[in-house]
Amino acid sequence: MIKLKGLSKFFEEHPDIKVVIFAGKGGLGKTTCSAALAYHAAVNEGRNVLCFSTDPQASLSDIFERDLFGKGVVEVAPNLNVVEIDADKRIAEYQEEIRNKIKEMYGMDELPPEIDEYISSTSAEPAMYESATYDAMAELVAEGSYDLYIFDMPPFGHGVRMVAMAEILTAWVEKLAEAREEARKYEAVAATLRGSKVSEDEILKELMLIRDKMKAFTDLLVDSRKTAFFMVLVPESMAILDTERALEMFNDLGITLSGVVLNRVYPRELLEDPSIPDFLKNKIKGQDEYLEEIKDKFGDYLVAVLPTYEREPKGLEMLKRVAHDLMFSKLTI
Ligand SMILES: Nc1ncnc2c1ncn2[C@@H]1O[C@H](COP(=O)(O)OP(=O)(O)OP(=O)(O)O)[C@@H](O)[C@H]1O
Ligand SMILES: [Mg+2]
Repeated sequence: MIKLKGLSKFFEEHPDIKVVIFAGKGGLGKTTCSAALAYHAAVNEGRNVLCFSTDPQASLSDIFERDLFGKGVVEVAPNLNVVEIDADKRIAEYQEEIRNKIKEMYGMDELPPEIDEYISSTSAEPAMYESATYDAMAELVAEGSYDLYIFDMPPFGHGVRMVAMAEILTAWVEKLAEAREEARKYEAVAATLRGSKVSEDEILKELMLIRDKMKAFTDLLVDSRKTAFFMVLVPESMAILDTERALEMFNDLGITLSGVVLNRVYPRELLEDPSIPDFLKNKIKGQDEYLEEIKDKFGDYLVAVLPTYEREPKGLEMLKRVAHDLMFSKLTI
């Protein structure tokens, strides 16, 4: 039997953490943990917190019981700021910005249709969605207005893959560079129309600025003194398998896994109550095998265990309770 110390111990030992990311397979509790930690750091500790998501299903809106999607930063409780980015809108804004820049630089009133189509087609690429998300995160961190940033990621592959940004970032910057190349073909014409030669370096300068901002953010994410990655796990075979794969992925990406949070555990103490229904007894006993496997495989990483709650953890009152469990981990497994 082990009793874990909870995330409070981790933060005591890592006082310089600025960014926290909960990763893991779909539906295991990433958003719940993100919101609970945000609640604790903001409300209990008075830190200025930003909790961020790009989930098109607006799950932070759901858990904080406020309409937050695409609304910018909203303070849902003292010091507890939440932002739910509309990534599609952000991509559209990007594209508009690029269109305008090209028009401005080459003195065009209308973009040539090929270029216009080219820019529109970029939104169909998955890398664009991830780049837009990553860029939104990088921008918020670069502004530096908060003490702690909690990024609530979409389900695993997608979420952590974003950290393999070198690739994705390159794809985005290269797209822009290609668009610039395309635009150059029109430069001669445009220059004649405007009667002047434009500086070729302008767009490239812009690209380098984007690259530098991204690089600073990527450096922060792989710095284990400043960024903590936690995997959320539940006592089920698929989730265990997935976490094993994730550990490999973390290694490949050069990211240190800070810990594993085990969610949705039926408290063993319930067995002491003779009146509990058989199905619950079976559930509790059934999870034992997985708990042993988890202790065996991820024992060194386990930082907190959360119980299965009697209802979906939503709203500030309930989050207060989850926050306490996450920080001080009361259950033994
Ligand atoms: N310990 C728990 N007890 C009861 N319900 C829980 C618990 N943890 C999470 N839930 C519920 O399970 C559902 C999924 O949780 P959550 O949204 O936090 O997962 P997620 O990992 O963020 O999912 P996604 O991958 O879809 O973003 C939610 O309805 C949440 O309220
Ligand atoms: Mg979620």
